[in-house]
Amino acid sequence: MGRGDRSAPSLECSPAVPRGLPIRLRVNGALRELRLDPRVTLLDALRERLGLTGTKKGCDQGACGACTVLADGKRVLSCLTLAVTCENRDITTIEGLGSEGTLHPVQRAFIAYDAFQCGFCTPGQILSAVALLAEGRAGSDAEIREFMSGNICRCGAYPNIVAAIRAAAGAAGEADHAVAGEAGRAAAGQADRAGV
Ligand code: FES
Ligand code: FES
Repeated sequence: MGRGDRSAPSLECSPAVPRGLPIRLRVNGALRELRLDPRVTLLDALRERLGLTGTKKGCDQGACGACTVLADGKRVLSCLTLAVTCENRDITTIEGLGSEGTLHPVQRAFIAYDAFQCGFCTPGQILSAVALLAEGRAGSDAEIREFMSGNICRCGAYPNIVAAIRAAAGAAGEADHAVAGEAGRAAAGQADRAGV
């Protein structure tokens, strides 16, 4: 190998790590046992070893957000995350977010608002949006844009992406409202029955 050779580390074992490090990853709720070169990124482990190709490799250097997945509910760039650091963390990829019959509300909103063109950035956009909603960062279009700014869309679908996230945030708010309303009505019923 020449000095200029910058080929990616092998996904299997390097001579220095004869059999690779044993690692257990919990991906989309399933425990997966692998042996990996410790230099392998989470992105390559997901795509090349586990066949989860929904997570996309764009820049492979932390600049585009295409590789975004959730680790314990927080968004991470899987191209900058070593797989060995993810042991005992819950990894969620786009494959684990919803199923064909029951899409996640953010997935439904992206379809309803036509929030993609080529679709390459979409898995990362959707996972980032799911985390953004959990972070409570959908208060305004400007806030959505700011907290989605790590996810680049080369097709320029930004207006529709923002609209989809705003709609998903509204739907989540209405659901919360309905749950709160039901809880309130239940509490009032209990108080009535108790004669309070
Ligand atoms: Fe990870 Fe671009 S592929 S940020
Ligand atoms: Fe093509 Fe975003 S939809 S890059």
